Amino acid sequence: MKELVQRYGSPLYVYDAEVIRRQYRNLIHSIAYPRLRIHYACKANSNIHILRILRRLGAGIEVVSRAEAELAMRAGFSDVLYTCSNVTDEELRFAIQHHFMITIDSLGQLERYGKLNPGGSVSVRINNGIGAGMHQHVITGGPESKFGIYHTQVPEILRVAQQHGVHIVGVHQHIGSGILSPHIFMKAMRALLRTAREFPDLEFVDFGGGFGIPYRPGEKPLPMQQLGRQIARTFERFCREYGRRLRLVFEPGRYLVAESGRFLTTVTEVKKTPFHTFVCVDSGFSQFARPFLYGSYHEIVNLSKRNDKQRVTVAGNICESGDVFARDRMLAARAGDVLEIRNAGAYGYAMSSDFNGRARPAEVLVDHGRVRLIRHRHRMVDNP
Ligand SMILES: Cc1ncc(COP(=O)(O)O)c(C=O)c1O
Repeated sequence: MKELVQRYGSPLYVYDAEVIRRQYRNLIHSIAYPRLRIHYACKANSNIHILRILRRLGAGIEVVSRAEAELAMRAGFSDVLYTCSNVTDEELRFAIQHHFMITIDSLGQLERYGKLNPGGSVSVRINNGIGAGMHQHVITGGPESKFGIYHTQVPEILRVAQQHGVHIVGVHQHIGSGILSPHIFMKAMRALLRTAREFPDLEFVDFGGGFGIPYRPGEKPLPMQQLGRQIARTFERFCREYGRRLRLVFEPGRYLVAESGRFLTTVTEVKKTPFHTFVCVDSGFSQFARPFLYGSYHEIVNLSKRNDKQRVTVAGNICESGDVFARDRMLAARAGDVLEIRNAGAYGYAMSSDFNGRARPAEVLVDHGRVRLIRHRHRMVDNP
């Protein structure tokens, strides 16, 4: 890994393709339902080379913007779910023209869609009053959430759809991200299936993403096989009652790519104050935002083996005092050492910016020992 930093510079994102394949296969083998469809939520990591890995495995894709949709098409996807969030008419028109399956987020959107494409087919995002996730900011269901149409408003959905001859062929929910409790998953699944019964023309039910991964040492992973069996059994039972074997859809992001990625950053100096020891590094929240945004925990390992561990704060190079990757970690480090921040494959590069004039890092893909630069380090350019 240190050689990669020497070759491609620091900081650097490095992904292992085989981990992505493992996670995808794990998911499809765990949920043994014949009409299962996995749409990769590409907001988690939209590097086109990562998208291609998932397309070759047989995944569809879920996008949330025109730019993501264009990237998905460039990567060769044809099975595209377009999740609408505060879209303009222009964006709706674009999604309609490309025959994407649109997930409608509000009654107003359904009305606008109906006017733009009377007689069309859509999926609707339902808020069944249940939310979950690793941080308040990633809980996307429940009474406080801005997403979806509340389940008590189903009669209005049916009325607006009928008015424009729109067919509701899918129902969708995404309750949040980073969920490690199978119990919450199943509770949310049963809630959406109760709502689904009110729609007579469904072709699929889409339970969104949200499958978590263990970030902290000792944290238990989702028991995917057990959860998969429960999901398949519950959905089979629903389909028998519904009278048709519908498509079972998930939109995982994090589960597929988080563990494939590492973020490598170099120690610039170790700074002692009367109160703390700061391990200062050559990157910050502009390049890896999760700890800053959500207080997320990521394991940090020094790639140079050292044995003088002490309690430290790993601090970034951005001019904000919240720019800290970790506090109270036992870590030995010296200037020039390369630190590996683990499980950085999801919402890592995807959330990066060039704040403070720090150019986005390069990305490298390792596949069966072969190393490929899959994105050049950005160059900061002056405004025209
Ligand atoms: C609509 C939708 N689907 C899928 C996902 C992917 O979530 P995760 O990465 O937790 O699987 C998200 C994440 O924000 C989302 O908003």
